[in-house]
Amino acid sequence: MFGAGVLLLFGFAANALRAAEATPALEIRADKVAGQFSPMLYGLMTEEINYSYDGGLYAELIINRTFKDNNQSPVWWHLVQDGGAAGSMSLDTNQPLNAALTTSLKLEVSQASGNQRVGVANEGYWGIPVKPNTRYRASFYARAGASFSGPLTVAITSTNNSTVFASAQVRQITGEWKKYEVTLTTGKVTPTKDANFAIWTSKPGTVWFSMVSLFPPTWNNRLNGNRVDIMQLLADMKPAFLRFPGGNYLEGGTFDTRFNWKITVGDISQRPGHMDDAWRYWSSDGMGLLEFLEWCEELRMQPVLAVYAAYSMRSGAATNKLDECVQDAVDEIEYVTGDTNTKWGAQRAKDGHRKPFNLEYVEIGNEDNLGSGGRTYDQRFTAFHDAIKARYPKLKLISTATSRFQALTRVPDVIDDHYYRAPQALAQTGFQYDNYDRSKPKIFVGEYASQTPAPNRQMTPCLGDALGDAAFLTSLERDSDVVIMSSYAPLFVNVNPGGMQWQTDLIGYDAMTSFGSPSYYVQKIFNLNHVDAILTDNGVNIPKYEYTPPVGRGGRGGATPPQPTQLPSLDFNATRDTKSGTIYLKVVNTSDTDQAVQVKISGVTSIASAGEMVAISGKGPLDTNTINDPTHIIPVTSKVSGLGTSFTRTFSKYSVTVLLIKGR
Ligand code: AHR
Repeated sequence: MFGAGVLLLFGFAANALRAAEATPALEIRADKVAGQFSPMLYGLMTEEINYSYDGGLYAELIINRTFKDNNQSPVWWHLVQDGGAAGSMSLDTNQPLNAALTTSLKLEVSQASGNQRVGVANEGYWGIPVKPNTRYRASFYARAGASFSGPLTVAITSTNNSTVFASAQVRQITGEWKKYEVTLTTGKVTPTKDANFAIWTSKPGTVWFSMVSLFPPTWNNRLNGNRVDIMQLLADMKPAFLRFPGGNYLEGGTFDTRFNWKITVGDISQRPGHMDDAWRYWSSDGMGLLEFLEWCEELRMQPVLAVYAAYSMRSGAATNKLDECVQDAVDEIEYVTGDTNTKWGAQRAKDGHRKPFNLEYVEIGNEDNLGSGGRTYDQRFTAFHDAIKARYPKLKLISTATSRFQALTRVPDVIDDHYYRAPQALAQTGFQYDNYDRSKPKIFVGEYASQTPAPNRQMTPCLGDALGDAAFLTSLERDSDVVIMSSYAPLFVNVNPGGMQWQTDLIGYDAMTSFGSPSYYVQKIFNLNHVDAILTDNGVNIPKYEYTPPVGRGGRGGATPPQPTQLPSLDFNATRDTKSGTIYLKVVNTSDTDQAVQVKISGVTSIASAGEMVAISGKGPLDTNTINDPTHIIPVTSKVSGLGTSFTRTFSKYSVTVLLIKGR
């Protein structure tokens, strides 16, 4: 049933395995520590792409809540009128709420009385999720015309308006802008996302709306907070850090559409939002600088703060604004770390967070080896470096000009490498760090993903991608004395039609539910099963297959080498918990054949026969999880026996295994 492209995925391995004459052996020296494992190796990278925050993690349910998504019409809103009532709605820029929210929605009701009603309804991000016995916080700003004073009904209704799932009344509306808040509580409803949020009246007159908001319960019940189910998926990964806010989203197409952190803080009614022209949709900036930091705090992640480095993707370097951009970055660091005696630390306290955040890493820009960025990066990096180090000497600075491009006058502490490649090519990429000069800056693999080539590439990674990722990660783990951080990208995708701008993405969702891809589960089991000491290991008789990368670029992040190459179909690494003596052996069988492997462990007094294993496997490379089949491929934990200083185990085809071996 698989197309030719799929057979090519890891299919070369079978021939190689048949050709292998002796059983492959993994030799592990438990007493020979090759390096210290980086506790920061596994983290997250995030930006506004694929409806990651709006329509994703940020729990706001109203799309186009400030009526700025489109300046011609109130997109995603429609008029509700029934029972013979009549009215109209339109965008209005007269008498706006404030200088940030310059457009409001004007509802004119020409005919309504008794049971008739006229109102406005919002479709949500591909639906409003209705769940039983749930409290939703609705709020909006309104201003009434001379002949109107309410009341207004606020409700969550079915899309055909026949069912009201929850409703509340606002009795009176005044002629001045004012915020109104109600709680909408559902009863024993059947969960559905075929729902709208609506505000209507049965009285004639005119009323204007601004900043219309609806929140379900959020993680930690934080106001303006995050969606619970997606936060749970992230919490389960125990990520060490969050790289934000991008990615291309940080840079924007032009200086004006960069992530300008100063307009993303303060009350949401004071945030103008901005066009995310990197990914072509409006960003509410509800997920602003403080919300990113609170997200870090809630999951105990270190913030890895990427600052705008005076370069945007279409307009190029803004070196004439370099001083302003450097000052913005220094101010931003003060907002994050400053105490309340500082200007920006005081602003953070005013915004609701008195305690400064810990910050260790600041990244200067994004992918500055690409486009024309490389030509000015040295100048720009030097300016940021000197200003930031002068004020914050302990901060570690990350350069985005990749480890293959190091012509910088100021030596960065860390270099950010990005790889989007076919699974085999990504697996191969990992080996380069075995020979990386340890005297050079540390490495942050700030973006990576295995991407099965078209036409088999899917919205979220399939098992074949997960195998490529796992093979790559065994290399990063082996070299994590120098590769200190890694993060998959992109992290999120709203799986609805039109929700995706970039394929593939780690976690998928719609309005109602979310799921982890096989690659998500690989990261999860790798991160939950790593320890402090990297062990020396050696593979003997490891079967190989020939792989020829496609000619040309492997996506943004670098060209793939065109030469045919021999790649192992078994990838592995071993770490040891110095305290308990437990050895964690990770084995990735990327081939289409079950593979018996001899494991030899030296440098221990004894190995317990009983151990444990966590494994992910499937029938074929295209096996995957989807919104309708979210747990098709998940890790399975089981007890194992027969372990010792020398034992043979069979690793099933297309599998990722972590063996927990108790040694003394
Ligand atoms: O992850 C998607 C994009 O890929 C990022 O925004 C950018 O940094 C890279 O090119």
